Amino acid sequence: MKKTKTFKFKESVGIDIGTHSVKVVHLKRLHEGFKLLNYEIRPTVPQGVEYIPSDLRPDRYAPVLVEIFKTLRINPKKVQHLVTSVGGDNTSIKQIKTIFLPDDELESALFFEAKKHIPISGTDMILDYQVLSVEEKTNNMNILLAATSKELLNEHTSTLVSAGLTPNIVDIDSLAVANSFALNAFVEEGVYVLLNLGAHRTNMVIWGPEARFFARDIPYGGYHFTRDIMRKRQMEFEEADEYKLKWGLLDDPSISESKTISMLDISEKSTEDAIVEEIRRSLRFYVKEAGTSDIRKLYMMGGTAKLKGLQEYIQEKVSIPTDVFMPFINVEMPEKFMDKKDPQLALAIGLAMRTE
Ligand SMILES: Nc1ncnc2c1ncn2[C@@H]1O[C@H](COP(=O)(O)OP(=O)(O)OP(=O)(O)O)[C@@H](O)[C@H]1O
Ligand SMILES: [Mg+2]
Repeated sequence: MKKTKTFKFKESVGIDIGTHSVKVVHLKRLHEGFKLLNYEIRPTVPQGVEYIPSDLRPDRYAPVLVEIFKTLRINPKKVQHLVTSVGGDNTSIKQIKTIFLPDDELESALFFEAKKHIPISGTDMILDYQVLSVEEKTNNMNILLAATSKELLNEHTSTLVSAGLTPNIVDIDSLAVANSFALNAFVEEGVYVLLNLGAHRTNMVIWGPEARFFARDIPYGGYHFTRDIMRKRQMEFEEADEYKLKWGLLDDPSISESKTISMLDISEKSTEDAIVEEIRRSLRFYVKEAGTSDIRKLYMMGGTAKLKGLQEYIQEKVSIPTDVFMPFINVEMPEKFMDKKDPQLALAIGLAMRTE
């Protein structure tokens, strides 16, 4: 999703507005590649207030953005190249195949096609597309359709405007996840599973240089892990959230085992199991649809990728080599940021590295 106007820029800003935290990355463009100038991660819910996704209002984002830009000493009016993204139920990305169509027929045919594939009502849909390839033998076209609802885009635009920013390029979360990975990983052939583990959902993307693109959202994230801890360890939200940041899926050795186990309601499935089940189900679907099972690796990003024990758990249960994604491989890092290779910034980095 982009506006057509592009121009040469010296600095860029990528903004990932998540329901839990806003992430902003400020890059300088070098002759080749980028250098990290600064970044900021800031929660959108005040300390001590319980994060409940359904209770949160969209007008809380703009003040957080204003604070972040103040801290980073960036004048929002002077940002040259701003890239943001939207995600969730009112966005969709689908790779489809059609018979060959000339340019002048393509757009209206795709709109018609998109209505069949994408669960957004026709009158409310904004559609973008990219022709990925034309198959030599059959002349069929492989096309990536990207859609969002007008309402969502308007809400996003008004958040940025309220923060004094001028909206420019607006991407879709799952495409930005793939882009961040493609620009910051040593990609070989084959297929990669990318999980952007947020607070109330996880974008799952299956991507490979030559592979079929697949994206869907899994309705679990960090919030659900905190709820598990509340239930399992009989804690209030704040205490459970602190426990989560410190111990993740591991047991605090100072708490006696018998106490937690006796309180565990075994009838409810854990969040890690629910996520693993969703990954398995999507992979089965993908292998059947795309006709490949050459899955090389699974990468975790987003704030919940930092949850202790999760990487090992997923690797064991899904049987795919799994790692936490380090988003700065192709970004020059000043000394002061060297130890800060935070996977929570993955999407914002991918956005800031978009050149058009
Ligand atoms: N060190 C950590 N260990 C475990 N969880 C963490 C850690 N740091 C942050 N988190 C969790 O990561 C989540 C925030 O991550 P992120 O910023 O990617 O989410 P978001 O983009 O705001 O959410 P969403 O995409 O679901 O709207 C929160 O649930 C937070 O508790
Ligand atoms: Mg997010």
